[in-house]
Amino acid sequence: MRPTTSNEIRQAFLDYFNEVHHEVVASSPLPQIDNPTLLFTNAGMNQFVDLFLGREKRPYTRAATAQKVMRVQGKHNDLENVGPSPRHHTFFEMMGNFSFGDYFKKEAIDFAWQFVTGVLELEEERLWATIYTDDDESFELWQRYLPAEKILRFGKKDNFWEMGETGPCGPNSEMFFYMGDMATCDPSRLNADDDEEFLEFWNLVFMQFNREKDGSLTPLPKPSVDTGLGLERMVRIMQRTDNNYDTDLFSGVLDKVQELLGDSDEQRQENLVGYRVIADHGRAAAFLIADGVRPSGTGGGYVLRMIIRRAVRFGYSIGFTGPFLAEVAKVYIRQMGEAYPELKLREEHVLRTLTQEEKRFARTLESAMVQLYHIMADLNEKGEKAISGEVAFDLYATHGLPLEITRDVVQERGFTVDEKGYTEAREAHAIASGKGAFGEYSAETGVYGRLLTNLQSTGQLEDGVEYDPYLGAETESEIVGLIRDGKLVDSVKVGDVVEMVTAVSNFYVESGGEVSDTGQILGLGGGAIFRVDDTRQPLNGLVVQVGEVVQGEFKLNQLVRLQVDNVRRSDIRRNHTATHILHQELRDRLGTHVTQAGSLVAPDRLRFDFTHESGVNSETLAEIEGKINDAILANYPVGIEYMGQKEAIGQGAMALFGEKYGDIVRTVQIGYEGERPYSFELCGGLHVAETNDIGLFRFTSEGAVSAGVRRVEAVTGRVARQLIAERLNLLDRLAGQLNVPVSELESRIETLQAEQKAAQKRIEQIQQRMAGMQFDSIMAQTRDVAGVKLLTAQVEGVQVDGLRQMADRFRDNVGSGTAVLATVNNGKPIIIAAVTKDLIPRGIKAGDIVREVAKVVGGGGGGRPDMAQAGGKDAAKLPEALALVPKLIEKAIG
Ligand code: SER
Repeated sequence: MRPTTSNEIRQAFLDYFNEVHHEVVASSPLPQIDNPTLLFTNAGMNQFVDLFLGREKRPYTRAATAQKVMRVQGKHNDLENVGPSPRHHTFFEMMGNFSFGDYFKKEAIDFAWQFVTGVLELEEERLWATIYTDDDESFELWQRYLPAEKILRFGKKDNFWEMGETGPCGPNSEMFFYMGDMATCDPSRLNADDDEEFLEFWNLVFMQFNREKDGSLTPLPKPSVDTGLGLERMVRIMQRTDNNYDTDLFSGVLDKVQELLGDSDEQRQENLVGYRVIADHGRAAAFLIADGVRPSGTGGGYVLRMIIRRAVRFGYSIGFTGPFLAEVAKVYIRQMGEAYPELKLREEHVLRTLTQEEKRFARTLESAMVQLYHIMADLNEKGEKAISGEVAFDLYATHGLPLEITRDVVQERGFTVDEKGYTEAREAHAIASGKGAFGEYSAETGVYGRLLTNLQSTGQLEDGVEYDPYLGAETESEIVGLIRDGKLVDSVKVGDVVEMVTAVSNFYVESGGEVSDTGQILGLGGGAIFRVDDTRQPLNGLVVQVGEVVQGEFKLNQLVRLQVDNVRRSDIRRNHTATHILHQELRDRLGTHVTQAGSLVAPDRLRFDFTHESGVNSETLAEIEGKINDAILANYPVGIEYMGQKEAIGQGAMALFGEKYGDIVRTVQIGYEGERPYSFELCGGLHVAETNDIGLFRFTSEGAVSAGVRRVEAVTGRVARQLIAERLNLLDRLAGQLNVPVSELESRIETLQAEQKAAQKRIEQIQQRMAGMQFDSIMAQTRDVAGVKLLTAQVEGVQVDGLRQMADRFRDNVGSGTAVLATVNNGKPIIIAAVTKDLIPRGIKAGDIVREVAKVVGGGGGGRPDMAQAGGKDAAKLPEALALVPKLIEKAIG
């Protein structure tokens, strides 16, 4: 069946050439890596240059592609035509078939003819061919299909194709389709600059030479073929529209723009140029971003920024007031995502990058335009029409207005701009700002300062790292800095401990008590893995992911996927929202003097310090815990809203004293819509969507931090569940050990305690009785020394108290006498001496006795004359020490 839609035509081309033994090769990415003179792929043959030159061999010598191409630079620059022109684009798709020393002119012409007339069924009468002036061979070959008068000869300008300043080249033959009225067809108009009826659609290049750096031509090892069929034009021919934009490639987007603007068909027609610029640039930008280009101030990044801004400027001039390019890109992603899967794969990244760049530019667009109008008005007064390069550069440097937009605007009003002067001004500025390699910056600013300055001054990241932890757990970005051992490096490998800086970071950086995210960063299209252990912000505008390369290697500018450990982050979210609920309930129960004095929101617990004089008793704590769990069960939605700081405070948001907030603040509201929020705080942290997500809240401690500041700790969600499960299991185990059901555990323990108390009492009674029996036998050892009743004894198994009691009992029983009793406690001797009152005036003093006796056992002691105590070291000498006592008595009395 004859293909009609753009997707069908693309596929028909690849299918046809596959049938005639061509390898179907995927499009190469838009950014050019190998060719320093080329920013973007500008032809299907770029990826095959080495094959043409014979430097590389592949298993195939014939290939076919649908190639993404961008022409905004150098020899092939179509930018200025885009918009007004019905058939020029910045980005377009080029279908191509290639022969690497395989077939040459004959087959190339045969294949083209068969595809065009056989597959696409184009009318032969509308087809023309052109050839290089002296290419008689092609003339003969074409004559097999076309009459001689429809084979036209042209010179170098039209029929000799070159890739760029260097590279493969050769004479070519082009195919044209006549779109006009056959009756008025004028073949002399073919290739005329202002002709719109003869549409050139296919370029067959007969590659024979390589253009060297010095401009000379050297022959290729073998004659080859490179053809390029513009898909947009072919679709237009097949769909018979009078411009590329009315084909199904663009109509969906133009309808979308019309719908977004709410334009009538007449308005759409009036603003045609704006519509087309948006359709073209929006598509180019989406493809560039999907291929890893980021808006910046240099190279391909500048082109991307410029086309986005050009689209935005046109968009605003036809009625847009906010970001719209993401909507445009969505249409293309739906439409072309099958043929170019990278669009689908990076959809989120594409949409976000577009919107962010739009917003960034929208902030300065208005002031830039006002400034530009003033400049033109001033010049007008002086009768001048030329804007200097310096002024144009200043508009770019201070308002972000690319030269290309300035040129559009001033040309619309009959002014010119000095583009050479602009380039000079830009270069002078680059030198002054020290743009260059990392190493050119002063070491004093430190590695972070150097990196940030460099990223900003090259325009790679004008506003620093795009930090967006609210983005979701996964995003894609590119590596813009690698720091190892405090130095900037170009690549890192497995085992390296690294700080990795990406253009976008969705990893949360510790703030407001909430700890940093961890996770991993994966190299796209390779097996590289970087484990992120911490995320830090060493400088405003710079976020670094800290960790270790655990697999493969990473390079600067590489595309990566950032994956936050989302299980851990969910735990953190629960604890953060729970902290807000806790804050609210503490104020409700204890009073509004309660304010936050410190907070930790970690995955495994939350800690909250607050101002309050006294301890919170366990009943109150249980009550608060109940209320918090009620709020969790109430399943309040948690809403995030940005608003002016004054407005937020005015509406009752709780803000922390001493915290810095910007003019626009982020607020977290817990509660049902339309009602007064249950909780309303200024907060930059991560939260659950609904309070039910917290699951469960449980206090684990309450105590004092300092005078007037209390601290509570608590767990939620998984940890709370685990804690409770552990406690319940413990109860089960205890009940098992005591052989009762859990419900009887408490009474069983009470019984056991009572039993134990009774048993203890009984033991004491028995001990006392035994001590009494022991004392009776000791008393029997009392003897008479110089008329004084003396008892000396070493007693086993008693403590100091027992010894004292014995001494007291001796005094009570004996009437008049002296006792010196000793025991060994933990290997140490203890000695107690007791003297009845009547003996003291006779010179017998308890203190004197123990002092002397203790000397023998290597110790000392003393006390009152009637009762004294001593300790020592050498228990073995106790008998010797006690044997001294009679002599002491004799001496004292004597
Ligand atoms: N290289 C040629 C072109 O770009 C044919 O593919 O026109």
